[in-house]
Amino acid sequence: MRPDPNCRLCGLCEGRTHIVLPDGDPSTGIFLVGEAPGENEDIQARPFVGRSGKILEGMMADAGLKRSDVVITNTVKCRPPGNRDPTKEEMAACRPFLDSELEDAKLVVGLGKSACRDLMGFEGAMAEIVNVPTTITVNGRQVPFIPTYHPAATIYKKNSRAELARTMRIIAEEYR
Ligand code: URA
Repeated sequence: MRPDPNCRLCGLCEGRTHIVLPDGDPSTGIFLVGEAPGENEDIQARPFVGRSGKILEGMMADAGLKRSDVVITNTVKCRPPGNRDPTKEEMAACRPFLDSELEDAKLVVGLGKSACRDLMGFEGAMAEIVNVPTTITVNGRQVPFIPTYHPAATIYKKNSRAELARTMRIIAEEYR
């Protein structure tokens, strides 16, 4: 199930240029879930193509992963104004599309706090859960889940960078 091209399920439709759909190969069963499209993603209609995307791609490449080895997606498919965090209501409105994407997932990786809040219901500090494997319920099915830092969080924090790099190695070595 994909959003209607004229989707108006939440207020994010007012400011968007494009709905940003998942990118990658769903047959891999590996899904990296970010927060929301930013300015570049909104223009190019592709997730993680701006600064965060370059960081993510670089870390994936260091672990031997290509974008086509996974699917990259977001909790919400339209850009929040000024790149603010998506609200719970916006995430809930978009959730059926994410659930549908994750139908046959064998691993879901939550990139950052918003994704981990939406997918695990976790409200604490990322440092408490980063790279601790767990499971989430998607469409009534238990799916392996790894919480990790958002690529943007690694810009000034060396430790976050090391943890996100570790996540990429776990994906490459244990799930690919
Ligand atoms: N940040 C995200 O969380 N998602 C994107 O697609 C781009 C930046």
